Amino acid sequence: MDEILSKTPQESQVITRYIVMPDHANHYGTAFGGVIMSWIDMVAVMVAQRHCGKESVTASVDRLTFITPINVGDHVVLKGSVNYAGKSSMEIGVQVTKEDPYNNKVVRATTAYLTFVALDANKRPSQVPRLLPQTSDETRRFENAKIRIESMRELSKKLKLKD
Ligand SMILES: CC(C)(COP(=O)(O)OP(=O)(O)OC[C@H]1O[C@@H](n2cnc3c(N)ncnc32)[C@H](O)[C@@H]1OP(=O)(O)O)[C@@H](O)C(=O)NCCC(=O)NCCS
Repeated sequence: MDEILSKTPQESQVITRYIVMPDHANHYGTAFGGVIMSWIDMVAVMVAQRHCGKESVTASVDRLTFITPINVGDHVVLKGSVNYAGKSSMEIGVQVTKEDPYNNKVVRATTAYLTFVALDANKRPSQVPRLLPQTSDETRRFENAKIRIESMRELSKKLKLKD
């Protein structure tokens, strides 16, 4: 069967929703960052798998910003999509918003950018479909991802990092 050579971000987008329960909270009574990170990773891997149709692993969490605390009882909506696809890697962006169920107030709570790598049957990096951004937002995310990737390469060089 022919592999799909290109896909749009829309085709692999994932949107999911949780309610923050007391056992998701930290000792300040707001959502524990580690729980939010795990929800983000879960959404991002599903996006990566849907884009490439292969096993995908988290290679790096490139940026994660907690903008505002999330309260117990809030609804948390996570939207993930592919921002950029390289040869075997994919940058996935996840936007997290919190919703107060009693007044429908929606606030951006967290943003994250993660890099996933598709693997073949031998667990080696494997080609992914090209990304075809369609909308102006998708094009902006695609261009911003290229800037992030380039600046991370520059930083690694400056710091003489091996990864
Ligand atoms: C991610 C992994 C498969 C990369 O393997 P590798 O042999 O170093 O891969 P390569 O050097 O051939 O690079 C393959 C691609 O991954 C990207 N990549 C590798 N390491 C990366 C990192 N730390 N951050 C971002 N991208 C990375 C490369 O830029 C390259 O992208 P491209 O194909 O789009 O150009 C390997 O490091 C691994 O298995 N890591 C552990 C993953 C894991 O256990 N995650 C947690 C549980 S899911």
